[in-house]
Amino acid sequence: MAAATSMVTSSSFTFPSQGLRLPTRSHPCMKPQQRRFLRKYASNVITATYELKPPPYSLNALEPHMSRETLEYHWGKHHRTYVENLNKQVVGTDLEGLSLEDIITVTYNKGDILPAFNSAAQAWNHDFFWESMKPGGGGKPSGDLLDLIERDFGSFERFTEEFKSAAATQFGSGWAWLAYKANRLGVENAVNPWPSENDKKLVIVKSPNAVNPLVWDYFPLLTIDVWEHAFYLDFQNRRADYISMFMEKLVSWEAVNARLENAKAQAAEREMEEERMKNEEEWKPTDDDDDDDDDEGLEMYVDSDDDSEAE
Ligand SMILES: [Fe+2]
Repeated sequence: MAAATSMVTSSSFTFPSQGLRLPTRSHPCMKPQQRRFLRKYASNVITATYELKPPPYSLNALEPHMSRETLEYHWGKHHRTYVENLNKQVVGTDLEGLSLEDIITVTYNKGDILPAFNSAAQAWNHDFFWESMKPGGGGKPSGDLLDLIERDFGSFERFTEEFKSAAATQFGSGWAWLAYKANRLGVENAVNPWPSENDKKLVIVKSPNAVNPLVWDYFPLLTIDVWEHAFYLDFQNRRADYISMFMEKLVSWEAVNARLENAKAQAAEREMEEERMKNEEEWKPTDDDDDDDDDEGLEMYVDSDDDSEAE
């Protein structure tokens, strides 16, 4: 079993898949050519086993709000099964050795989901969920996070109501999320034709089954699991009570804030890289340029002849 990793104590926050002892060699928004390269590379070189990582607190640490029994079943059985199934599904395939984020992006397959997606996404989602909570959590965020929440939702209270509503109205099994949407359309490979600073904002989204905001190229910041297995032992069918308890007693705003800083840094890095590639593309000589050069050379030679004849 992987050792527990502190995920929320500094701005150098790392995403959950890194806690699974797998190399994160690419951004989830990487281009298809890069993914193809990684798949080829992975199939030739890397073998790795995804390991179940424990929550960053003991299984009874969230009591009385979330019981040890719930954690024993939810983490010890459900989460464990997703990881074990993932290992069976990827062994010997081109997916073996990829980071969880890369497997999620590749197997989401623009909505035409491939078999390993549910296991990989549920493994990632549960790590992210455990790290979204802490003993003595809840309350109100501060700093840049609170400023953005107030800018994008009007007030913290309004945000809380919208988040609770999303979690309560997700039909059937699924998740509710707070995510950072950075200057992108929600379609893979699409290019925003009119990017602006206003595109970068916090959004609340809900997702069915195992789907998470990585597949829309968003940066997840907070999640609540609203599958029945997450709350039935403690709340039976009272999902709304479970959601309120989560917001008031368990949310780790420290983790959310660290994720936001990480998301902003990654978005800025991505923009710089895209700008650099765009500039390279603009300055790269084309076949037409070569033709033009030839024409210019020929024209100068003829002109030179003409000049000497005139003399
Ligand atoms: Fe769950």
